[in-house]
Amino acid sequence: MLRLYGRARGTSGIFLKIIIMNRKTKSVYVCSSCGESYPKWMGKCESCGAWDTITEFREPIGLSRTVKSYNAAPPEVITLAAHKGESATRITCQFPEIDRVLGGGLVKGAVALLGGDPGIGKSTLLLQLMAHWASGGKKTLYISGEESTEQIVMRAQRLGVGAAPVQMVTETSVEAVLALLSAQKPDIVVVDSIQTIFTEQLESAPGSVSQIRESTALLLRFAKANGTALFLIGHVTKEGAIAGPRVLEHMVDTVLSFEGDTTYQYRIVRAVKNRFGPSGEIALLSMSDSGLKEVANASEFFLLNRHEPIVGTAIAPIMEGSRILVVELQALVNRSHFGIPQRVASGINPRKLSLILAVLERHGGSLLGDHDVFFNIAGGLTVAEPSIDLGIAAAILSSFRSKPLKRELACLGEVGLGGEIRPVNNMGGRLRELSRMGFRECVVTGSVRNADWAKNTNGLTLITCRKIGELQEVIF
Ligand code: TYD
Ligand code: MG
Repeated sequence: MLRLYGRARGTSGIFLKIIIMNRKTKSVYVCSSCGESYPKWMGKCESCGAWDTITEFREPIGLSRTVKSYNAAPPEVITLAAHKGESATRITCQFPEIDRVLGGGLVKGAVALLGGDPGIGKSTLLLQLMAHWASGGKKTLYISGEESTEQIVMRAQRLGVGAAPVQMVTETSVEAVLALLSAQKPDIVVVDSIQTIFTEQLESAPGSVSQIRESTALLLRFAKANGTALFLIGHVTKEGAIAGPRVLEHMVDTVLSFEGDTTYQYRIVRAVKNRFGPSGEIALLSMSDSGLKEVANASEFFLLNRHEPIVGTAIAPIMEGSRILVVELQALVNRSHFGIPQRVASGINPRKLSLILAVLERHGGSLLGDHDVFFNIAGGLTVAEPSIDLGIAAAILSSFRSKPLKRELACLGEVGLGGEIRPVNNMGGRLRELSRMGFRECVVTGSVRNADWAKNTNGLTLITCRKIGELQEVIF
């Protein structure tokens, strides 16, 4: 908006004020969590229920809403079956894990959003990938609005990819970025991060809802029109959502979330949404001094002390996307010295721990009401699947009875409120993975008679357990 204040003092002494506005704007109040807009400010978003997320931004008005008659040639319509279609050519990278998460490699013109906590390794991962693609002859451009080119060079040298011909630029104006992209026509572009990019057409500050939305739309249009693969790095809010409205997630083809705990080495890249492959797939990587590396034996990565029978630990196979990970569940049960016993759970929802304790007491006869119970999943993983229920119960019983579980034994099943043990999805795959890793026995549901998965278990012995009350008899 351009404002000119011309001040002329006339004979009558009246101030003359001329205001020229080349663009009119109006205030809109937008929820930064879900993107809903309101005509006035409110403390709580009525759409998503979040508090204190509604912020003002000014958006231009005056765009004609009436559609004039369309004079250009109408767009061409094609039949699905008649389309010869080169199948989307995939660009692969040095990590087969990442290719799998992307659905078999990067697709031309695809726009991916990579979100994650600060310092988790987003810039590191994309710099490594870009170096690989650049060395393989792809035209790459790394646009940074956060770090200087010197910082990126230093990081690249530390990662051992300092010699890769990656083009770099520090820029935050989307108009300047688009001019550069039109001139260079790169194959793959990284924008680090989308919250630092702004368009000069809007007045609001970089990082605001309207700026993120508008800048993404402009970059997306370029990527689709030119077949450029585009990675946008996005910061996440305290709650873990990608900062900016949800609408950003709807606009892009792929949403990747970079997870992990900075105190642990492992990192998980998860496809939350993918238009070019299955969603829910994960890539397991580990952060080292020289950047991110693939984990060789991913399913065993979270098993630490398997060969020592330890009181209070149980083993369970979980699914992350199509991948099976075998994890170690740890429980510590102690007589409580206070009126209200403590229940502390990490890696699972604390309510699940309370629920399993209640089932163990009601249907298993284990009186844990005057005991503190602590629970943890080794390695810092978080699991929301019900398949570890039986393992949780076994770990608690082991600590409560001060007896280690049988060696080479795993537990797999969901625990119902009636104390019954239920099968979970992909039983066959999970049992085969346990067998491949050298486990000999697995406790499963009692209803195996007609189950296909129980017929071929690769030498793994199934121990059936119908009710939680039978668990103590089979695990020690
Ligand atoms: P970075 O990629 O800057 O995180 P983000 O872009 O997600 O904010 O990662 C920085 C962290 O990664 C930092 O804490 C140091 C660590 N790191 C390593 O452990 N090894 C390495 O080789 C590099 C480059 C970084
Ligand atoms: Mg970064």
